[in-house]
Amino acid sequence: MFTPIERIIDGQVAEGQNVKLRGWIYRSRQQGKLNFVVVRDATGVLQCAVKKGVVSDDHFEGATKALIESAVIVQGTVKKDPRAPGGWELSATSFDVLHFSEIFPISKDQSTEFLLDVRHLWLRSRELTAVMRVKANVLASIRDFCAKEGYWETTPPILSTSAAEGGSTLFELDYFGQKAYLSQSAQLHLEALIFSLEKVYAITPSFRAEKSRTTKHLTEYWHFEGEAAHCSHEGIMDFEERLLEYVCRRVASENAKELAQLGRDPAELAAVTAPFDKLPYAEAIARLQAKGVNIKHGDDFGTDEERLLTEDVTQPVFITHFPAVMKPFYMKENPDGTVNNHDLLAPKGFGELIGGSERETDLKTIEAKLVNAGEKLENYSWYLDLRKYGSVQHSGFGLGVERLVKWVCGLEHIRDTTPFPRVINRAYP
Ligand code: 4AD
Ligand code: MG
Repeated sequence: MFTPIERIIDGQVAEGQNVKLRGWIYRSRQQGKLNFVVVRDATGVLQCAVKKGVVSDDHFEGATKALIESAVIVQGTVKKDPRAPGGWELSATSFDVLHFSEIFPISKDQSTEFLLDVRHLWLRSRELTAVMRVKANVLASIRDFCAKEGYWETTPPILSTSAAEGGSTLFELDYFGQKAYLSQSAQLHLEALIFSLEKVYAITPSFRAEKSRTTKHLTEYWHFEGEAAHCSHEGIMDFEERLLEYVCRRVASENAKELAQLGRDPAELAAVTAPFDKLPYAEAIARLQAKGVNIKHGDDFGTDEERLLTEDVTQPVFITHFPAVMKPFYMKENPDGTVNNHDLLAPKGFGELIGGSERETDLKTIEAKLVNAGEKLENYSWYLDLRKYGSVQHSGFGLGVERLVKWVCGLEHIRDTTPFPRVINRAYP
């Protein structure tokens, strides 16, 4: 049995107890007949004191020779030591090297580009390990919340001949001689599933051929999307805000250590409280104009506008009811020319976390909008069927998992929320 390092650092192993660890050399330093080898496993790092005469000569030689990232098994007794990182040390009684590492290419102060080239190795860094642990818990929290709320997890396709968000950001591919696309959103297929399961969700890869280099766009990201029958626009926003409260509070309590390591204050996440403010688009425009921004009705918000709208708030805020002309065909239009949609913006200029809306239910209205947008109706015939057989009010949303993780962890760049980031100039490693 191997003891996770975290248990020792957390003080769950009594001083003087003999334990066995399994991990990789994180750092090492020699002081005459004593090697201080810091060992890393999935849960943390621990300093091991490997002393000549206490371990066998073979083992001492191994500890002296073994470079960073060598794989090791260490046995020894646990001891409190304020000088050691984390306050605990292992006095080794045996030190087995499973694999002697070659010289590890990553050392201090390397360029971002280089670290991205060796991403498969950089994943071992403590920062990325902490983020991946948070991300796993974000995903688990989303699934638990959906199950509690009676939403069924489903598996919509990634390859499709119909486009949800349309236009310039589609990755096109040759599907045995037919044009097909990598999915941008599972929404249309989720809409089909509500007629059997009523409340559904999916967590799938979405693809956007985003030409812009920003700190919040990936070309491949994980998309959490929900769709519910008999659900109003207000109803779906209510679901989203309670979900976000649940995820933030759970991560704040279960990942406090990782957040602290990343320099993010868990208290801010624990304070996320539904309901969130709802600000209609027209009012948002008026607010921006009052702040001196040169913007008019019908303009979209850029990074600067999103920052100005959220610089004074501590909770996420919904911007609702955009002009229909700015939005896709599937959104439910009101008589005043707005749609029942929302973007959820995280505080302090973070930008968009969620986009969602009530869906148009009327066949003729959707057909007219598609024709107006220059689309061929036959490309959407299966989707239009959904408005012929028992069409009901329904609403849904999409949340970018990496956007949420970026916000939760307080990261500068979205690429660090995903192990192998795909951006405009990179699909390697
Ligand atoms: O706002 P979007 O484009 O909405 C849709 O795709 C809807 N069909 C979703 C639905 O109603 N089912 O995308 C939804 C979310 C955004 O709010 C953002 O968090 C994320 O997906 N997102 C991206 N995340 C990372 N990189 C990108 N390039 C992203 N584009 C969108
Ligand atoms: Mg959006």
